[in-house]
Amino acid sequence: MKYKKLPFYVVASGLLLVLACSTPKQNITAVNSKEISIDRKVDSVLALMTLEEKVGQMNQYNGFWEVTGPVPEEGTAALKYEHLKKGWVGSMLNVKGVKDVRALQKIAVEETRLGIPVIFGFDVIHGYKTISPVPLAEAASWDMEAIERSAQIAAAEAAASGLNWTFAPMVDVSRDARWGRVMEGAGEDPYLNSRIAVARVHGFQGNFGEFNVAACVKHFAGYSFAESGRDYNTVDVSNNTLHNIILPPFKAASDAGALTFMNSFNELEGIPATGNPYLQRTLLKEDWGFKGFVVSDWGSMGEMVSHGYAKDLKESAERAANAGSDMDMESYGYITHLAKLVNEGKVSEDKIDDAVRRILRVKFMLGLFEDPYKYCNEARELETIGKKEFQEGVLDVAKKSIVLLKNDKNLLPLKKQGQKIAVIGALANDKTSPLGSWRIAADDGTAISVLEGLQNYKGNQITYAKGADVAVGKTVFASETRINMTDKSGFGEAVTAAKGADVVIMVLGEHGLQTGEGRSRSELGLPGVQQELLETVYKANPNIVLVLTNGRPLTIPWAAENLPAIVEAWHLGTQSGNAIAQVLYGDYNPSGKLPMSFPRSVGQVPIYYNHKSTGRPGNGQPTESVFWSHYIDQDNSPLYPFGYGLSYSKFEYSNLKTSAASFGKDSKITVSVDVKNSSNVDGKEVVQLYIHDLFASVTRPVKELKNFELTEIKAGETKTVTFTIDSKTIEFYTANNKWEAEPGDFKVFIGGSSDTKMEAPFSYTN
Ligand code: BGC
Repeated sequence: MKYKKLPFYVVASGLLLVLACSTPKQNITAVNSKEISIDRKVDSVLALMTLEEKVGQMNQYNGFWEVTGPVPEEGTAALKYEHLKKGWVGSMLNVKGVKDVRALQKIAVEETRLGIPVIFGFDVIHGYKTISPVPLAEAASWDMEAIERSAQIAAAEAAASGLNWTFAPMVDVSRDARWGRVMEGAGEDPYLNSRIAVARVHGFQGNFGEFNVAACVKHFAGYSFAESGRDYNTVDVSNNTLHNIILPPFKAASDAGALTFMNSFNELEGIPATGNPYLQRTLLKEDWGFKGFVVSDWGSMGEMVSHGYAKDLKESAERAANAGSDMDMESYGYITHLAKLVNEGKVSEDKIDDAVRRILRVKFMLGLFEDPYKYCNEARELETIGKKEFQEGVLDVAKKSIVLLKNDKNLLPLKKQGQKIAVIGALANDKTSPLGSWRIAADDGTAISVLEGLQNYKGNQITYAKGADVAVGKTVFASETRINMTDKSGFGEAVTAAKGADVVIMVLGEHGLQTGEGRSRSELGLPGVQQELLETVYKANPNIVLVLTNGRPLTIPWAAENLPAIVEAWHLGTQSGNAIAQVLYGDYNPSGKLPMSFPRSVGQVPIYYNHKSTGRPGNGQPTESVFWSHYIDQDNSPLYPFGYGLSYSKFEYSNLKTSAASFGKDSKITVSVDVKNSSNVDGKEVVQLYIHDLFASVTRPVKELKNFELTEIKAGETKTVTFTIDSKTIEFYTANNKWEAEPGDFKVFIGGSSDTKMEAPFSYTN
């Protein structure tokens, strides 16, 4: 036993474990007995705590002290330091590195009355030092193993750096590409988001070993539905959308054992999420049986005053505590007011106990009580961060995340010998932008640029021209006026490079910091003068492969119409350039599929495949007239739909079969399809299954993804892919306000994209 403080409860918990094991419940499983022992340990700690110490556990502070510098003596830092020494800080965020974590943990463990360890959190969103593709990109891989591996790598580096807890995964279903944070989630579909949420929770948390961290599922709930796609804006969604679209990934992550949740900045039904008892108590903790704790989003408790939901910070704290928000991230609401609120009878001590139990439980689950320095091992830190196998892991998922949008003249894959290739665009030579928006522990300039990736292939002659800048400056908090770069002085050089080339690779898109939190956009085209650059170069040489690097769907109608080849390469992380080069040269055959629809214009946004039918057009109603749901100046369809993505192989679908025309409560049907790779290259295809519930107690989407299989199909081979449909598949949140399957008629669709027309009918009778 390395842990010296609190002999009472350590001994007590040991005794209780013995008692628990000797009860008549002989069939108790090992897991359950571990659970019981943790709950008893938690209770024995709680019994020792004063009210102030309990409130302290509910208080989280941002990092405030460089441990190499002098001890803070004034201002907020001094206050935080004092609180830490009193045992009034349960958690810290943004402290990283074994040295700093150890120093602060030592204060918590050795200088406070009870020595309860602090839990250290950090936004390890898509990698720590070795950076993975942004989550939206990873979602395009539809490869759960690769995604789980990527989360494992992130967790291993973070844990080696002293951290215990990541504020990920973000599972907000996103339909609005204007919202900058679409890069942080898995796109527009609840099912895909759910599958990925589970993979990421497993990847981060593993079996709570020394290379794992606790996950934090966020933002609970509705945050991505900000009006006009403007971050932090008001949210107003129906109960139907909340339950059928927004909540499923949260439920899946909770079921997968995620240890913590984060609430959100927005309001829901007029009640800010941080003060929302329905979300946090009724739904999450009671209905779903979530045993972990909920942390507020940064300052969101205090922001309830700005929302007009509390008259001051004290009332915010009261509302948040009563609503089940267990930990206060940087609002100072709990630490300042909560003990008083309990003494005044405005918040019951039972509620405080419930919150503290949850927090202590997570600390026990992570093993911090057994060894508060479990994550503080300098040798491990040195040998883990940046490991070669991690580079290979992020390269693997980066390749899988790339989506081939167009390849008309078979310009791709590139020939490996004897070609003159012009590479154009500031983003082609950028070693920072590919690291994306959430890469706060990675060093600038550590990504492989596209140019470097291409230069690793020696057989061709490469000329590079910048053409135009996409952004200036690199501070995370700079305002985005820099998006309007206007300098065209590099156009001439780009045109000259293009004229002498067989193939032109234009790398255009968004700077890594033009997406992410607070980076909403009202236009979704290529920022700055990049569109003009593209069209100018096209006049000189139309043999263009456009490589997009961006964190959200973009509107690129001109490129889609005119260019022979387009590759969506997102912000792919540390190994970006290598991944892109391997795909362009055909050493990796692209297999990614879009996790979000690409709109034709901003006017179509929000646009998503799983929309509802409307009354117009109704069945058989002509669409020649004007009185139906459409635009008079544009098609309704997206430029590229959800689930879409090409390959260097060609896949042909045929022979869709259902095993029976209907099924009941305790039976099921199978649906199969033949997928032929009619090309001469081996490839991978994401075979997708959608259903349409034709009529129900509440209206249902025209299509809903219900399953998929990522399958390798050799050149010339035909594979039969089979799925099962049972009552679980067709469940939804009905007019009875519960999840259930309703009898009725359905269609099943299978294909390589959400716009597949291959369908068969089935029905459900219960
Ligand atoms: C974000 C969260 C993040 C937190 C801590 C907030 O502004 O909304 O997603 O985890 O900051 O950095």
